[in-house]
Amino acid sequence: MNILVLHGPNLNRLGKREPKVYGHTTLEQINGQIINLAQELGAVVETYQSNHEGDLIDRLQAASEKMDAVVFNPGAFTHYSIALRDAVASLDIPVIEVHLSNIHAREEFRQKSVIAAVAAGQISGFGSASYLLGVRAAVSLAQSRRNQK
Ligand code: DQA
Repeated sequence: MNILVLHGPNLNRLGKREPKVYGHTTLEQINGQIINLAQELGAVVETYQSNHEGDLIDRLQAASEKMDAVVFNPGAFTHYSIALRDAVASLDIPVIEVHLSNIHAREEFRQKSVIAAVAAGQISGFGSASYLLGVRAAVSLAQSRRNQK
């Protein structure tokens, strides 16, 4: 099972960035937790962060060839990027949308996700554990898809 974990803009600054909202854990530490969990679940995980919309689109497109599922935190692009939504919609593998913060309990402009309707599901509000729950969901969805084939 191959899982891509994709982090969007500004997530490279986790740990330093608004710790009251996003916590003190760095992206490197989160990636370490993700890799450990993936090993436990018998999955291979690749992690990637980018601040650039086109770069994220390229990664999503490439994932359709070699990945079984994607865990995606689109950062602020969540709220307005139709290009990322279209990229997610074009994939035939499940994409799980994750957020550290509970976007539904924040400013009005964050409460809308243009990605959610084309994602397999959304996990929001559990801090870095959102990613771990996302990886569990990704592995479980990918396994049931494999068993159906
Ligand atoms: C975020 C929520 C977004 O609104 C914000 O722009 C982020 C992080 C989260 O993980 O809580 O960059 O996606």
